Formats: sequence, structure tokens, C-alpha cells
Amino acid sequence: MQTIDQAGTFNLGSRSVKRLGYGAMQLAGPGVFGPPRDRDAALTVLREAVAAGVNHIDTSDYYGPHVTNQLIREALAPYPNDLVIVTKIGARRGDDASWLPAYGADELARAVEDNLRNLGLEALDVVNLRIMFSAHGPAEGSIAEPLEALADLQRQGLVRHIGLSNVTAAQVQEGRRVAEIVCVQNQYNLAHRDDDALIDALAEDGIAYVPFFPLGGFSPLQSATLSEVAARLNATPLQVALAWLLQRAPNILLIPGTSSVVHLRENLAAGSLVLPDDAISALGGIGWSEAAE
Ligand SMILES: NC(=O)c1ccc[n+]([C@@H]2O[C@H](COP(=O)([O-])OP(=O)(O)OC[C@H]3O[C@@H](n4cnc5c(N)ncnc54)[C@H](OP(=O)(O)O)[C@@H]3O)[C@@H](O)[C@H]2O)c1
Repeated sequence: MQTIDQAGTFNLGSRSVKRLGYGAMQLAGPGVFGPPRDRDAALTVLREAVAAGVNHIDTSDYYGPHVTNQLIREALAPYPNDLVIVTKIGARRGDDASWLPAYGADELARAVEDNLRNLGLEALDVVNLRIMFSAHGPAEGSIAEPLEALADLQRQGLVRHIGLSNVTAAQVQEGRRVAEIVCVQNQYNLAHRDDDALIDALAEDGIAYVPFFPLGGFSPLQSATLSEVAARLNATPLQVALAWLLQRAPNILLIPGTSSVVHLRENLAAGSLVLPDDAISALGGIGWSEAAE
């Protein structure tokens, strides 16, 4: 048994994945744009993740753009049978590295083709429709039109399962009337808990919730309480942050991102960390008090 097996599994679409996975965004160059600073190190991180038992990798063709998908293909193809690669569409990158909405039916079809080509796949396991109505987080508005376009690509056999990203609870409800939604990927971590109710509702329906920025994102979480709990448990603060997410709800799947093999190992070791009740209650106060993201 590998360490990450201790974190358990959850269904993502038609397959079961380990609850500790890997997010590939950090493998592209600075600002998620252009090639990595150290290409060999990026390939090593991917191979090490799979060797450690990871079978859920999160990516997008707009990371780089194209860079992380090409690295995934170079490092891992032919892919292990149990590997689930989840990608996302709905944005494109400007020449200045900006993130621009790209929801037109043609743009979504092109994004699926780009993902297929760069990953070297004939069908994508899971595609998240990434909503970009506001730069500051989920914002209300109908998602039916782009979702219908994605459902059409699913009917063509190019996409096996559909997820949503950066969405409100109302958009999840609307989306579920248009297509079967197997996962929701929103920002959530110890210090950013807007989705508490949504996570519990999705858990009841067996839908995976995949927090992005599980460690706080580009500036990892820092908090005196987190450090105190970590010291007490002989763990690192970021391991405690991941273990807290694993214990928060059974449908949470983790995709911590890193460009470092040392950090990858540290993050995957969180799979065997069990937080006692007093640690959980101390950590529960962070979202409303001291943490800085
Ligand atoms: N749907 C969306 O809109 C969306 C948005 C953002 C991200 N995502 C997905 O979510 C995944 C996770 O998010 P993320 O990578 O942005 O943020 P994250 O996992 O919260 O944190 C990544 C940051 O933490 C650092 N880090 C990781 N492990 C560490 C460790 N053990 N010790 C110290 N620092 C550590 C990384 O730097 P190092 O490289 O130096 O380790 C990086 O700066 C992404 O990879 C991507 O697949 C989705």
C-alpha cells in the first residue's frame, strides 16, 4: 500500500480515483505562461507523482498555453490504464499572458481539439467548463449556452464526463439540468470557505468537489494556528492544510500544485496524516480570523 492510498478513493465520472491527486498548473513558466524554468524537473515531478500512486491529474491546454499538456504527454504517455486526466476549457491566453474568456461553441470545440492533440488522447476523461464571468470569483449568470456546446462535444464522443469550475450553487443546479455534472472545481481551502454548503450538498449527491488553490495558491497559506497544529503533529503546515481538506468531506479530491519533487513528496505524505478533533476545531476558526492567502 502506498502512502496516498490511506486517503481513500472517490468516483470521478465512471472511474474511481485516489483522493490525493496532482495539479499541473505550476509546471508552466512564470505566470503559468511559456516553458518551465527547468523542463527536466517538470517531467520528473509528473513521473514521480504517478510512481507514488497518483491517478488523477488536473490540467488545461491554456496552461502555457499547451505547455503542461505537452509535458504530461512526454512524461507519461502511453498512460497508465487507471490515470484520469481532467482538463478545463472556457478561457484562452492573450499574447501578454492575460486570461480571456473563450466560450463560443467554436472556441470550446477548438479547445477540446487542442487538449486531445497535446495530450495525445482520442477522448478526454473529464472536461471542466471554466466560467469567467468575473475576475474575482464565481458570479451569477446563465451557463446553459456554453454547457450545451460542451454537451454536444460529449455526444460526439470527444469528452466522456463534464464538470464545472468557478461556479455558484445556482449555476451548478442549472448545469445539472443541461448535462450530467461529475465534479465542481472552485477555490476552497482552510482560509477560503465560501463553498461549505455547496460541498455538503454535492457530497449528498455523490458529486466530487475539487478545490483549486488547496494550499492557498501562488502565496501558500500562512497562519499561526496552522503552524501550531503542525508542530504538535510533527507535520508541516501545508500537510495539515491538505489533511484538513481530506477530513472536511468525503467528496473532496485534492490536486495540490507544485513544480518541486520535494514539495510533491511532502504533499502526498499528507495522505497518512489524521487530524485529531481538537486540531480540527482549532483549524476551523482560521477561515474567519487570521489566515492570509
Ligand atoms: N479551475 C481553476 O480556475 C483553477 C485555478 C487555479 C488552479 N487550478 C488547478 O488547481 C491546482 C492547484 O492549484 P495551484 O497549484 O494554483 O495552488 P496550490 O496547490 O494551492 O499551491 C501551489 C503553490 O504552493 C507551492 N507549494 C506546493 N507545495 C508546497 C509545499 N509542500 N511547500 C511549500 N510550497 C508548496 C507551489 O510552489 P512550488 O512549485 O515551489 O512547490 C505553488 O506556489 C492547479 O495546479 C490547477 O491544476 C484550477
